[in-house]
Amino acid sequence: MKSLKNRPIGIFDSGVGGLTVARSVRKELPDEDIIYFGDTARVPYGNKSKDTIIRFSREIMSFMMDMNVKMVVIACNTASSLSLASLKRYYSIPVVGVINPGVEEALRLSKSGRIGVIGTSSTVSSGTYGKELKRNDPSCKVFSKSCPLFVPLVENRFFSSPVTRQVAGMYLKDLKKKKIDTLILGCTHYPILKTVIGKTMGSTKLVDSSLAVAKYVKKILEKDDLKTLSKKKGKTRYYVSDDPKGFSKVAGIFLKEKIKANKANL
Ligand code: DGL
Repeated sequence: MKSLKNRPIGIFDSGVGGLTVARSVRKELPDEDIIYFGDTARVPYGNKSKDTIIRFSREIMSFMMDMNVKMVVIACNTASSLSLASLKRYYSIPVVGVINPGVEEALRLSKSGRIGVIGTSSTVSSGTYGKELKRNDPSCKVFSKSCPLFVPLVENRFFSSPVTRQVAGMYLKDLKKKKIDTLILGCTHYPILKTVIGKTMGSTKLVDSSLAVAKYVKKILEKDDLKTLSKKKGKTRYYVSDDPKGFSKVAGIFLKEKIKANKANL
């Protein structure tokens, strides 16, 4: 069996969105192997209950343990908000979510302490971002808004069409009035709409947590002495719960390389 250090990093999401995180981890840690799992049979997670998300996440963790990963990154904001605390109790390997790295980055960037958070309905109603922001800086003011139409707009490749701009205008209108200076893009898909969101919000700083997560993963590997000993370019293997063909196509466009995903039975 491979030594612990040379095992892959597991990254999972409800579908393709977590590829934003996988791409950043690949850039930050080019020698590491990655196992990516997208739960394409059960996406979206963004409108599901906490119990359901915890059940799905545990099933994916069992798959990851079978794949002998050395740590797991929950790339999905909804799963991070609702299941991270529960998963951390069950596993001895490091399990990290996307919330804390995004929170730390937002607090680092914000001058006024007025921070906005946008995410799926389940992420926003969980209040996890707000709790973590307040835990790190009790004086900050947090304003949240769910933007459920952003995910289907991205998945249908309406990246900067008039309809996307109009939806962004409607969703972000109230946050603009709150005079926030920093906005956390609290969903895997939102960094893809960075241009439209940025134009709508004017000078507000946008936090793309995928970059912060990759740095955080590196820090954990260093702290726990888990960095790979391999000096070769790492490989990524992709697994999905539904037909791999559709995922391979979309992921290929997204990552600008040829992807061949495999079907995994949870
Ligand atoms: N990956 C989800 C998230 O970051 C968005 C897509 C979904 O609803 O499953 O919250």
